[in-house]
Parts: sequence; C-alpha cells; structure tokens
Amino acid sequence: MSKVVITIFGASGDLAKRKLYPSLFRLYKSGILAENFAVIGTARRPWTKAYFEGIVLESISDLAVSETQAKTFASHFYYQSHDVQDAEHYATLKKLQDELSDTYQTEHNKVFFLAMAPEFFGTIADHLKSEHIVDGQGFERLIIEKPFGTDLETAKQLNQALSETFDENQIFRIDHYLGKEMIQNIFAVRFANILFEHVWNKAFIDNIQITFAESIGVEDRGGYYDQSGALKDMVQNHILQVLSILAMDKPASFSSADVLPEKIKVLESLRLPDEQAINTNFIRGQYQAGQINNQDYQAYIDEPSVASQSKTETFASGVFFVDTDRFQDVPFFFRTGKRLTEKGTRINIIFKNNANIFEQTVTPNILTIYIQPTEGFSLQVNGKEVGKHFSIEPVKLDFRHDADALGNSPEAYEKLIYDVLNGDVTNFSRWQEVKASWTLIDKIVNTWQADKAPLHYYPAGSMGPVESFNLLKKYDTNWIWQPDVWY
Ligand code: BG6
Repeated sequence: MSKVVITIFGASGDLAKRKLYPSLFRLYKSGILAENFAVIGTARRPWTKAYFEGIVLESISDLAVSETQAKTFASHFYYQSHDVQDAEHYATLKKLQDELSDTYQTEHNKVFFLAMAPEFFGTIADHLKSEHIVDGQGFERLIIEKPFGTDLETAKQLNQALSETFDENQIFRIDHYLGKEMIQNIFAVRFANILFEHVWNKAFIDNIQITFAESIGVEDRGGYYDQSGALKDMVQNHILQVLSILAMDKPASFSSADVLPEKIKVLESLRLPDEQAINTNFIRGQYQAGQINNQDYQAYIDEPSVASQSKTETFASGVFFVDTDRFQDVPFFFRTGKRLTEKGTRINIIFKNNANIFEQTVTPNILTIYIQPTEGFSLQVNGKEVGKHFSIEPVKLDFRHDADALGNSPEAYEKLIYDVLNGDVTNFSRWQEVKASWTLIDKIVNTWQADKAPLHYYPAGSMGPVESFNLLKKYDTNWIWQPDVWY
C-alpha cells in the first residue's frame, strides 16, 4: 500500500480526466492506494473541492462498483486554483501539501504529475524547489508527459531545467507504450523462450516490421499536430522505444539497472542517415480526403487548426539500422500514420529461410506480436498439407485475445503510475535514450523541413503512400501486414 500525496498540474485537462483519474481509481480498487493517499489537482480554473470531486466521479463512472466506494475515493481529492508562474500560489500549495501529509500520514512522500504543456515544466520544477515543496523529506518523484522537447536542443534545455530540482532517478518520463501489456510481453517472448532467444539475431532474422496504424485523424489536436507531425509524434518516442526492446541484447537480469543500459546501447547504435540515405530510406506522407468504412473524411489540410498549405507529415515510414553485432544490417522497417485503413499496432519478425530441399518455395517463419486492438502473438510455421502428394503449407500457431472485451489488461497509465509509486524506472524513457532518439530524428526532420524530400499523398482509408511499399521492395521484401490479409 502506497503512502503518498500526488499533485497533478493540469487537473482540468483531457489527459487527467480520461486517463489519470480512472487509473488512480483502479489502483485504489486493487488496494495499492488505500487510506494513506491524497491527490491535489491544480489548474487555472476556479474550481471548488466539491466541483473537482464531481469531475473525478464522472471520469470513473464506468468503473465504480458502488457509489460509496467512488465517493470515498473522490473524497481524497483536493483542488487548488493555480497559476504556474505565480510564486505565491506555490506557497499555498506547500501549505496544503503539508496538511494533507499529516492528515493522511503519507510520510511526506510526493509525486508530481505534469499533465500540461511542456513549456511550463521548467518553471514548475523551479518553483517546487524555491518554495520548498520539494524539501528532501520522503520520496519525491516527477512524472512528465511527452513531448520531451521538440528537438535535441530544446530537450537538452528542458532536461537542464528539471535537473536543477530532480535527479535523473526521480524523473519519470512517460511513454505510454511502455505501459502496454503486449510491449512488456516482448521481454517474455524474447527472454523466456529458448526457441527464440538463440535465433534473435542477424544470422536468423531477415527483417523486422513495425506498424503503428491509426484510423483516427488529428481530432481536435490540429494545432499541436501541425507543429509536430508523425515522426516527432510517434517515431521519436514510441516506435524507437519499441525498437530498442526488440533489438537489445539479453540483460543480465530483469532489473532496471541491467535492462536500461541494453536499451540505451541500441538507441546509441542507431545508424545516422545522411541526406541521400534520408531520401532513399524515409518516406513522408499526408492524407487527402477519402473513406474509411464507407464514411467520408476530409483531407488533413482541411482539418481545424491546420495550415491550409501545411506540409506536415501525417504518415512516416522508413528503415532503421542498428549497428550492433547482433543486428548489423538487418532492416527494421516502420510505418505509422493517421487515417489509415484501420487501427492496428503490430510487429512482424520475419526469419530467414533455411536451405530448401523441397521442390517448392517455402515461406519464412514469421513471429507476429499483436499490440492492439487484439493482444497476443502468432507464429507461422510450415507443415505438410494433408493428402497423398507431398506439399508444404504455412500454418499459424495463434494465441490472441480481445483485451477490451476481457477488460483485464491494466491501462497503460495504471501500470506506469504503479511503477512510479514503487520507484521502478524500467518502463520510462531515460535521458540518454531521449538524447539518442532526438539525434536521429533531428536529422530526418531537418531534411524534411528544408523541403529536400518529397511529401507523398495518400487517400484516407489506405495504408499510406505507395512509396512506403516500394521502399520494402528495394530490400526484396513486402509489408507482411496488408489490409484484409490475415497476418
Ligand atoms: C500519442 C500520440 O502519443 O499516441 C497520438 O500523440 C496517438 O497522436 C497516440 O494517437 C496513440 O496511442 P494509442 O495508445 O491510442 O495507440
């Protein structure tokens, strides 16, 4: 059971309502948070405690078993109207923090969750120190949301600002993909199966394909997205994090002290492409009007808050190489985009063919890891087709479940907050990882922004521009997962 006061900056925001309050409630239901916790919500709005409790109750209405349980949970929530630039407000916050620490006997343990625009992170961290809210008593941990900077330079500045108040091991940079059940399952698949452990290298793996497809558009986030684009929004963080887990060497143990250096090694070994390689190996695309499931969708440039001449990419695809002994020259293809055919996050690991003694082509073994919407994995192997003739056919060993239907996979945020309460940094991005990934992404972005690479268009409802398919052809392969192919 955790003893803690959690202060949420940005308590009136969408993230807090959609993810944080429900996740805290799930932790409460499972007894990880019980009597000894309080939450202080802060935001500019002049809410009262009662109003805030109402917001919390609304956000957990689908999860509550009984009204009493929900109300008792919400009674642990306090609200302070707060201007993040105003030192006086921090003095009031400090007072409330100390009072709650006494009332709920939290032993001065504190978590600060910055669920708001990153430009305020530095100011908040500064004030937390100067107003002695961070006072060295109990544990003190900072959770921050992406984006961590908008390029390497701004990321460095942000890191510098935070490090005036918090040590690296007190900073928990959320990448919500690291809290997903099936991303964590990659560790189990790789390191708990002798079957895979010894073939997980360049001698046996031909290529790896990472697809993060979304059918949604930019929704009401056009303003943010138009400044960001798919590469910064999805690749710099989520895709490179997943790649690091796929490509890492086996850690000596499953502790953060052993896992993180292996992940960092991968990110620091990513091959940096020059301008020519960027043009050959990376594709940017933008969606035009089209249909998904018979419904019409407008073009990206017609979305609210998007510049009408925007060249921002809503699709990015390419190939990364990891210059380690294990994976030298093995292509790691990726693609991600908005308004694609369907929502589907999956990884295909395509093995090499062995010497073929049969008079027919034999398909390679393929391990597929399904991240969402279904969770699970499948392995394509070859067997004999039933009949008098000897003929080989691929068959699939398939283990999948619909996580939403079962409702038993923890929410990514629930798992990640749980890790923060335990002080476990394994599933958070470390500064060295952020630095290495921005170093690579900056190179591509700079070329794209200087308009030195073409922007390709694709209709909403497709799987991105044809150039993304052609890219794999250059490497003698194809995207294994194509719409309406059951892989
Ligand atoms: C976020 C991106 O980090 O991840 C969004 O900013 C994207 O643009 C989202 O839609 C996808 O997350 P999930 O969990 O829905 O796959």
